[in-house]
Amino acid sequence: MDTILRRSCWNCHSNDTQWPWCSAVAPVKWLIARDVDKARKIMNFSSWTEQAGKKLQLAVGMLAASCADVNVGRMPKPEYVFLHSEAMLSESDKKGFCDWTKREGKRLLVLKRKQADAVGWFLAVSERRSVMDRDISTGSCHIRALTKSRCLPSSPTSAV
Ligand code: HEC
Repeated sequence: MDTILRRSCWNCHSNDTQWPWCSAVAPVKWLIARDVDKARKIMNFSSWTEQAGKKLQLAVGMLAASCADVNVGRMPKPEYVFLHSEAMLSESDKKGFCDWTKREGKRLLVLKRKQADAVGWFLAVSERRSVMDRDISTGSCHIRALTKSRCLPSSPTSAV
């Protein structure tokens, strides 16, 4: 999979772009630089794990879009393939690529579920905490283990 990505997508969707010879000509260079800039922002395979980790939902969508784009020949961009024939993908490359996007998508969905579980757990814990805090502030000390040392009478007057 790595080889397909490197061969056909890496030059635009990664941090290490090998500039083609024609980019020495200024206008071509600007055009390509703009494309690469745009492509990296959208999806950067150099930092894929990090990028995907931050926005799992988006990453899953990108994988599905990648498979679709590759299948219809939208990616790698046709004008790029024209200049870099090595980026051309055979039917079996495309299939291999799409299989990878599906595996990677599944992996991310499992991660997403784990993240959701972790968030759920955190919310449950903070909900419990705020119940305790409320109890403490109203002076009802029925959660003894936690409140023993902090359980003060609810108003200064009752302390007399
Ligand atoms: C010549 C540079 C170039 C190459 C090579 C390239 N891309 Fe892109 N890609 C872009 C640019 C630029 C965009 C931004 C949208 C546009 O201009 O179409 C983009 C956008 C995308 C998107 C965003 C969704 C969409 O459909 O607009 C996906 C997914 C994508 N590329 C996948 C790939 C994959 C997978 C490969 C390799 C098989 C690849 N690209 C190769 C330049 C490139």
